[in-house]
Amino acid sequence: MTTKRLAGRDTLQAADILRRGGLLGIPTETVYGLGANGLDPAAVGRIFEAKGRPQDNPLILHIPTADWLERYCADVPAAAYALAERFWPGPLTIILKRREHVPDAVTAGLDTVGMRCPAHPLCREIIAAAGLPVAAPSGNTSGRPSPTTAAHMLEDMDGKIDGIVDGGPCTVGVESTIVDLTADPPRLLRPGGVTLEELRSVLGEVAVDKAVTGLLSAGEQPRAPGMKYRHYAPKAPVTVVRGDPEKGAAYILAHIRPGSGVICFDEYAPRFAGHPVELLGPAGDKAEQARHVFDALRFFDGTGVEEIWAQCPDDAGIGLAVSNRLNKAAGFHIIDIE
Ligand code: TXA
Ligand code: MG
Repeated sequence: MTTKRLAGRDTLQAADILRRGGLLGIPTETVYGLGANGLDPAAVGRIFEAKGRPQDNPLILHIPTADWLERYCADVPAAAYALAERFWPGPLTIILKRREHVPDAVTAGLDTVGMRCPAHPLCREIIAAAGLPVAAPSGNTSGRPSPTTAAHMLEDMDGKIDGIVDGGPCTVGVESTIVDLTADPPRLLRPGGVTLEELRSVLGEVAVDKAVTGLLSAGEQPRAPGMKYRHYAPKAPVTVVRGDPEKGAAYILAHIRPGSGVICFDEYAPRFAGHPVELLGPAGDKAEQARHVFDALRFFDGTGVEEIWAQCPDDAGIGLAVSNRLNKAAGFHIIDIE
């Protein structure tokens, strides 16, 4: 099929694609999504086909306002509204008990469903115009880095989707934070634009799922099915170096070979002259690092490097989301520098 390039003024055409059961590339503030009518199992099935996504990996539903929660979720706790009040519209997905009529195609047969109210103005217009809950995973081929521009999404999806709306580069750059409110205490399943510290300021105690830090033991299943897959992975193996950035840069320099690429903080780029280098952002600016992490990983997919070394921020604030994405790309191959 031909993928229609749509602009911001074409929101009605975009909504129409969703209403007719088609697939739409949608800008959100986190990453581009691959959207379809979340109440239409056939349309949802086409998402899995286009992405090559395993059937056991559930999708999240995107809604225009928090008062839609009751339509798709049962026993919505007060904590969900407290989170919505503080962080919606925004980069937070809340796992809740689902209602019966939410298609199994969306939830992969689980009795819970992930709900998110996105902040991107075009995304909000499209969802409102469609009048539907939009099922949307990240718009990449399964296993590849999530797309943060329309061009990156087209690299993976051109010819496989009906249309894409170009809403500019994503302002957050990593996917939404996922918190499971059906667990007690609530559990962080994926770190993202809303930080763990912010979640705790509303919820009190929040547990961190082992899949976030990569410390799953053999045979253990993460609670977010998608977290078990090696992800975002360029073709070359990635090694993450954490700890003091100065010492980390020295470590990388001591181990780097011809044919190695580097993902580093901006300040350290000159040290790696002669190697393909992708900038993560200034060492002190984690929000900027979040905006660049997927682009850096995607860039190396198109090069012939044999291995990739990556500097990595500490876990405070949105650093947890940046390090999680790098660590997943590295298959949790991490070197901790004292
Ligand atoms: O920022 C985002 O969340 C983006 C944009 C497009 O909204 N979407 C996104 O979707 O990242 P996706 O499908 O790439 O990641 C959703 C994650 C997967 O790891 C999936 O396993 C998990 O959410 N998930 C979905 N429903 C769940 C549920 N009921 N229980 C536990 N995990 C769930
Ligand atoms: Mg994804």
